[in-house]
Amino acid sequence: MNKLALYCRPGFEKEVAAEIMDHAASLGIFGFARVQEHSGYVIFECYQPNEANRLAREVPFNQLIFARQMLVVSNLLENLDPTDGISPIVTMFEEISAQVNIRLSVELFVETADTNESKELSTFCRKFTVPLRQVLKKQGWLAHKANRKSGLFLHCFFVKPNCCYVGYSYINNHSEHFMGIPRLKFPSEAPSRSTLKLEEAILTFIPKKEEEKRLNESMTGVDLGACPGGWTYQLVKRGLFVYAVDHGKMADSLHETGRIEHCAEDGFKFQPPKRKKVDWLVCDMVEQPSRITNLIGKWLVNGWCRETIFNLKLPMKKRYQEVRQCLENLTDMLNKQNLTFEIQAKHLYHDREEITVHIVIK
Ligand SMILES: C[S@@+](CC[C@H](N)C(=O)[O-])C[C@H]1O[C@@H](n2cnc3c(N)ncnc32)[C@H](O)[C@@H]1O
Repeated sequence: MNKLALYCRPGFEKEVAAEIMDHAASLGIFGFARVQEHSGYVIFECYQPNEANRLAREVPFNQLIFARQMLVVSNLLENLDPTDGISPIVTMFEEISAQVNIRLSVELFVETADTNESKELSTFCRKFTVPLRQVLKKQGWLAHKANRKSGLFLHCFFVKPNCCYVGYSYINNHSEHFMGIPRLKFPSEAPSRSTLKLEEAILTFIPKKEEEKRLNESMTGVDLGACPGGWTYQLVKRGLFVYAVDHGKMADSLHETGRIEHCAEDGFKFQPPKRKKVDWLVCDMVEQPSRITNLIGKWLVNGWCRETIFNLKLPMKKRYQEVRQCLENLTDMLNKQNLTFEIQAKHLYHDREEITVHIVIK
């Protein structure tokens, strides 16, 4: 199999294509991307057989910014019989099995792209999952105990009614979420919907078992561009004391917690209070990405915080180039100071024309 499917937010297909081409080229793998704007996915076709499998294993999924999911797929199965769509799909899984051992599979996702047009199709997918899962189980698939190192997820990706790709993703190199989308519930007491961006970022960048160690009541955070307080809410919920920097008004419910100090100041001029160690910096200011990355670099280089999550707003046309440039500049700034750090950037489900970046100093 020589095709890779990558899911994304509709409108970001070009970014996904540019990104996978770069990663593939760095592994000496070449091919072309089929891009249909606003389709919510990209098919990358490698020139050599079996190279899609190599990409699915070797391109670190957590280093892909714009892709929500990455899977190896078959040729498109078309004109499936509405009364017996299952047989050709199972046959295709058998063919795949001859190439990779899909008996190591643990889960099946019957999915669509995340577009408005696919809403109806997703109802069909939900219903179709049950009988398909039963057949696969009967044949000894989906029986493998979750093995974080070697297991596979099977995917059936419907792009039109009666028309799907069949494929698999590696459990240690994919998104564990259906359609690559974490389902989060909006906390009714949070002051703004942007709270879900920081919640998803924490879920994405910080392993669950480390969350309490890295975000707790002994810590202090700074939130630049904090109003009305959706991000501050996430930090306060985890026990942190937060300096909320913004000329706007913070939600009363946050003042009532006694865990915030509102600083009506310019986020570009604000400095951490003397004699107070700040652990976390978060920043959601609407500003040019290059200004934000310089500001974050300044905080890290000065040792004003150890860990940060921030947004880069991307209203421009050449979004991928802009992101690469900003991340490269920031990486250079930190390298020049011989700092050891981890950096990860992701276009989260709750992000719109923006991405979210996480950096931790080691
Ligand atoms: C997208 S909103 C932040 C929403 C917030 N994260 C939340 O969850 O409620 C951006 C905020 O950045 C603030 N802002 C923009 N430029 C700023 C600056 N230079 N200094 C401080 N705040 C700034 C705006 O006042 C606005 O409240």
